[in-house]
Amino acid sequence: MFSSPRGTADILPEEAREWQWMEGIARDLCARYGYGEIRTPLFEHTELFHRGVGNATDIVEKEMYTFVDRSGRSLTLRPEGTAPVGRAYLEHHLNALAQPVKLYYVGSMFRYERPQAGRMREFHQFGVEVFGSASPLADVEVITLAHSFYEALGSRDTLIALNSIGCPQCRPRYLEALQEYYRPKIGGFCANCQRRLERNPLRLLDCKEEQCRRLSQDVPPIYDYLCSGCRAHFQQVQELLAASGLAFQLQPRLVRGLDYYTRTVFEFIHSALGAQDALGGGGRYDGLIEDLGGPPVPGVGFAMGLDRLLVVLRQSGRPGKAETDPQVCVLAFSGLEKEGFLLARQLRAAGLRVLQDFGERGLKAQMKWAGRTGAPWAVLLGPDEWQQQKVILRDLTAGGQEEVAREQIVPELCRRLGSAAGER
Ligand code: HAM
Repeated sequence: MFSSPRGTADILPEEAREWQWMEGIARDLCARYGYGEIRTPLFEHTELFHRGVGNATDIVEKEMYTFVDRSGRSLTLRPEGTAPVGRAYLEHHLNALAQPVKLYYVGSMFRYERPQAGRMREFHQFGVEVFGSASPLADVEVITLAHSFYEALGSRDTLIALNSIGCPQCRPRYLEALQEYYRPKIGGFCANCQRRLERNPLRLLDCKEEQCRRLSQDVPPIYDYLCSGCRAHFQQVQELLAASGLAFQLQPRLVRGLDYYTRTVFEFIHSALGAQDALGGGGRYDGLIEDLGGPPVPGVGFAMGLDRLLVVLRQSGRPGKAETDPQVCVLAFSGLEKEGFLLARQLRAAGLRVLQDFGERGLKAQMKWAGRTGAPWAVLLGPDEWQQQKVILRDLTAGGQEEVAREQIVPELCRRLGSAAGER
């Protein structure tokens, strides 16, 4: 017997309806905000993530599924979506289109992490990326989009944590200050942090180890180091968020785990998740496209973990489901299976959701099955009624049945089920 690999999960039909519902809300919202869908490959050249996400990050150092294909290329299952979408933006010259270019994606990402509730090795993100605008309005648009998404799902209690991590002009001074702060205490940090202190001191702020978090408590806040441009941008983001009625909390130690960020960074934190697990996060990445070999193009976006979101929604009993319940069961006495099959086709063509018993059991067993499907109506084809051009329409919810003329059964069911499809 095989089981699915550790950290992966099958999504069976009942659960898939919750996913469809959630993804449907994401897609509708993106259409309302003017974001077009992009689908990038599940694997990319490994180098893309080294350059995009950053060499000294957990993702690149420890979490990537990297393999060599039969031609000797190093490929990696995408651990995130921003670098791939940036690569596609460049490859397809989307910078020649009217800017900004606003894109969204929904799909699997892969990270070799220690699995637990809401943390998977194959997980699913809904993300958006805006390329070609440096305006703080773009930052706030993506944050409000994410907020509207949580609201539409009925997920309350989501905190917006906000920070700015400066730009290549002002950040070096802050990194020096961090190194000065950390150096005398570095012996108390984990091996990863010790290694990263000189190369990438921001990462020490983001370490998940308890002892490192404790020792980072009094780091100097970045605000004192921001240049005037970054400071003004950050101020405007806060003003716009407040004007949009969104509450947020400034978290000076929020740096995010990926290296491409500049200026605004944010995370959506839910009280039901452990302190280290966010529902989603994002920020501005004004240097990413250049890092990937393109012209300077500012960008901002977010991604949220849909697996995690579903865990939270289930805890509060609130996930919806896509409308896929069967509406009609067609049952036929032996000898009338073909007629039943053709009637089911007609009903489906009229837009109804129809199940049909394939006639491999007696009518009693068929009735029992129909009761278990949850469909409110059954149509029975019996030899006597069929001869008289009639079928039996049975109410599976209230009980009771009646005869209906054969040519009337499609419009009749459409009427009862409130489907406009019968008018086609
Ligand atoms: P990230 O913070 O690495 O950012 O991931 C975003 C979200 O994906 C997390 O907040 C979390 O909900 C979910 N997630 C991450 N890892 C796992 C996992 N192993 N299992 C389940 N869920 C997980 C990014 O990926 C950036 N690309 C976001 C972004 C887009 N920034 C700008 N644009």
